[in-house]
Amino acid sequence: MNNLRPAQALNLRPAEAADVAAIHTLLKSYSDRGNLLPRTDKDIATNLTDFCVIVLSSQIVGCAALELFPNQLGEVRSLAVDKDHTNAGFGSLLVQHLIEEARQRGLSRLMALTYAPEFFHKLGFRTVPKATLPEKVWGICVRCYKFYNCDEIAVLLYL
Ligand SMILES: CC(C)(COP(=O)(O)OP(=O)(O)OC[C@H]1O[C@@H](n2cnc3c(N)ncnc32)[C@H](O)[C@@H]1OP(=O)(O)O)[C@@H](O)C(=O)NCCC(=O)NCCS
Repeated sequence: MNNLRPAQALNLRPAEAADVAAIHTLLKSYSDRGNLLPRTDKDIATNLTDFCVIVLSSQIVGCAALELFPNQLGEVRSLAVDKDHTNAGFGSLLVQHLIEEARQRGLSRLMALTYAPEFFHKLGFRTVPKATLPEKVWGICVRCYKFYNCDEIAVLLYL
């Protein structure tokens, strides 16, 4: 993790209504290339309380969401760091923040579906078969356009 900015230069905070457009733009920059699932601005606004953002010099440079499932399971969703600010530790900060939030909410497991499993492995997650996460697979994935051809990797952290 190189070039981590001094903590005082960063603001990691809950997302606000005024952030919706910037979050949407950030997620779209990856979903257009198939690296993330697309989310509409309406979907982001509806689920805004799930989101946190990193603000650097008034610009949103990262976002992530914690989605809750039954059986004390949470998911890291919509994790994205602006392409001009990757490899500066922001992605790790966002996931560590969600890990702490998940613990405070009493969750016992935190998962993600990702094309970047090595990034999550560095934060203590382990790759698991998707079948071990039926709450996600049969609750949400089954409605996804990728359901029959999903090539994302499931990673899981016990909290
Ligand atoms: C994955 C992503 C969030 C990483 O954010 P970041 O701010 O660059 O990550 P960090 O700087 O905290 O990186 C921490 C470590 O993970 C590594 N890493 C970062 N991105 C990685 C990737 N895509 N694959 C593998 N390793 C990665 C870094 O090299 C670093 O390793 P080090 O500690 O040995 O130096 C960012 O690249 C991104 O937004 N990707 C597109 C969207 C995506 O894939 N989101 C995850 C889906 S759930």
